[in-house]
Amino acid sequence: MIQRALEKSLLSVPQLLEGYQQLGSLLYLSESVPLQLIHRVVKGTPIEAPPKAYLDKAITEVTNLFEEDARRMRAGDYPVNVLQAPNPRAHFSRLGKLYLDSVKISWRRRNKKSKEFSDKAREHFADVPEYYQRNFHHQTDGYLSAESAELYDHQVDILFRGTASAMRRMILWGLRDQAEVLDDGEGMKILEVGCGNGSATIDLAKTFPKAKIVSLDLSAPYLGAAKENLKKHSRVSLVQGDAAETDFKDNTFDAVVSVFLFHELPREERERVLKEAYRVVKPGGYVGMVDSIQMDDVPELNFGLEVFPKEFHEPFYKNYVNHAMEDIFHQVGLRDIKSRTGFVSKLVGSKKPAATE
Ligand SMILES: C[S@@+](CC[C@H](N)C(=O)[O-])C[C@H]1O[C@@H](n2cnc3c(N)ncnc32)[C@H](O)[C@@H]1O
Repeated sequence: MIQRALEKSLLSVPQLLEGYQQLGSLLYLSESVPLQLIHRVVKGTPIEAPPKAYLDKAITEVTNLFEEDARRMRAGDYPVNVLQAPNPRAHFSRLGKLYLDSVKISWRRRNKKSKEFSDKAREHFADVPEYYQRNFHHQTDGYLSAESAELYDHQVDILFRGTASAMRRMILWGLRDQAEVLDDGEGMKILEVGCGNGSATIDLAKTFPKAKIVSLDLSAPYLGAAKENLKKHSRVSLVQGDAAETDFKDNTFDAVVSVFLFHELPREERERVLKEAYRVVKPGGYVGMVDSIQMDDVPELNFGLEVFPKEFHEPFYKNYVNHAMEDIFHQVGLRDIKSRTGFVSKLVGSKKPAATE
């Protein structure tokens, strides 16, 4: 209903799009308060408060992100139905589970436990590399259970105070502006690596309904959730595997993209994944990622980059923020590297040189 109302009023009241997103931000901001209390009680210490300069800059950056997102929807870069109103019943039932689970998460944070898995989750260990066998963000079962998959997107929305979806959509900016994908993606093959539950995949599929999209992830349970979330999108295929070592032939895809993958990878794995992207993308094709900003991309937000890995189990994040992704893109042979930021994320896009270059 909200979507339909937005669509009808799109031309007359464009600010509604931003207002809608700001309402979402308020919702997730309010949902973060109990989590902070639980964290304080169980862990015994509060999360470090950000300085005023950080907060001021964060507000400006969020406003700019929402404005650009709305501008692009109005311009037809992507359809307005990428804005998904949550189903209230599912939302609040999940929120209850999420609060209960947050007690366990805070306990793991307090006791620095990062290798706790249920027996069922451990069954997946044979399929995943060693660095991945951990509770990223101290989340229960890491990425290796259906329960974790159920809570993950909501946890991310709370963490980023309702801005995660707009940041994910920055990958569409790259595909429109630099890869110059035509209207509906007809004839295109896109590979998405680290698709998780398919949140960015849905936006890709809605924006490029005629493109053939292959989305890959290491986690079988998250791919299970993605399958459910993507059941209306028959042109998307889901594949389980390591983005650093795929079975695709050389020069297969017109574009290889990822959202929020690289900050979770060890340095060598980041390079291997980009080398693999270079191998499977066609000459002249696009390789792009959206992920966390890195040190000094937005100096006023550096505080957040320092606090994040202290509070959440993100073992490779410190290394990630200190090694510019643009340099690794260049190192593997990608060229025409362009970056731009949106709140705490950045889009890095590039081209594989055409065969004659
Ligand atoms: C932070 S999540 C992001 C998920 C999703 N793209 C999103 O926007 O929410 C990182 C994802 O990368 C996946 N992943 C981590 N290492 C991977 C690898 N080497 N190959 C494929 N997927 C990987 C994880 O299973 C997880 O689903």
